[in-house]
Amino acid sequence: MTRYACVTGADRGLGYELVKQLLAHDYTVFAGRYHVEWKLLDDLRKEHPDRLVLVDLDVSTDESVAQAAAFIRSRTAILEVLVNNSAITGDNVSTIADPLNFDEMLKVYNVNAIGALRVTNALYPLIVAGSKKLIMNISSEAGSIGNCYRKGWFAYCSSKAALNMMSAITHNNLKEVGGQVILIQPGWMKSWLSGKYHDEAPLTPDIPAAKLIGIIESPETYKGNSPAYIDYEGNPLQF
Ligand SMILES: NC(=O)c1ccc[n+]([C@@H]2O[C@H](COP(=O)([O-])OP(=O)(O)OC[C@H]3O[C@@H](n4cnc5c(N)ncnc54)[C@H](OP(=O)(O)O)[C@@H]3O)[C@@H](O)[C@H]2O)c1
Repeated sequence: MTRYACVTGADRGLGYELVKQLLAHDYTVFAGRYHVEWKLLDDLRKEHPDRLVLVDLDVSTDESVAQAAAFIRSRTAILEVLVNNSAITGDNVSTIADPLNFDEMLKVYNVNAIGALRVTNALYPLIVAGSKKLIMNISSEAGSIGNCYRKGWFAYCSSKAALNMMSAITHNNLKEVGGQVILIQPGWMKSWLSGKYHDEAPLTPDIPAAKLIGIIESPETYKGNSPAYIDYEGNPLQF
């Protein structure tokens, strides 16, 4: 039977690697496309013309999410897993003593927190219809209030904390029908997050992506009353 997955923000970085590895595990993948000039997904599609489906998806607007969800619904009634991966960072320098850009903060919340909820909300019936009923939200250690040490990163950290709370509420619904939400800290990765390539990071995104596939294939290990909030190796984080 065909197993369907959906990954947001899949043009590059972790999202792209997850798409690649889900394809390698025989999933048919709806890959959310946002950065259309970036051509990795087009090349990958040549290798998997039947199982890689590119979907224009800007998680920050109701209209784009509604259109993408309608397209996905026209192709399947069931999604085994939704991975909410899209994110932006915003200003990561200013402290409380500096002028802060509140409009930019709202944009970061809209992508990182509300964006994930918007997509989840639109695709929820398809997830409930699946056997895994799994939502994997790519969070960060930056979303932990208990372990907060930064003096800046207001938008990114608080957007990930909000994502964690939205995930807890969604999990409370999903667990009643046998599903779950898992929150992931993927590690410090070489990626284009925040618009420039972070070569100084220790991990290439394929490494956490491979571990996340293992978690997607055996999510029962992480079932609980609250969503699991774990790093890519499965170690728990403090909310
Ligand atoms: N890199 C790290 O060290 C690190 C650490 C902890 C957590 N994370 C999390 O891991 C996830 C993947 O990040 P990454 O490092 O792979 O960075 P990335 O390559 O920048 O991935 C994020 C993707 O989301 C896309 N995106 C931005 N705005 C969007 C929108 N409105 N709608 C749809 N997609 C949008 C980005 O497109 P653009 O490239 O055009 O912006 C990009 O393709 C994120 O949730 C991030 O917060 C990363």
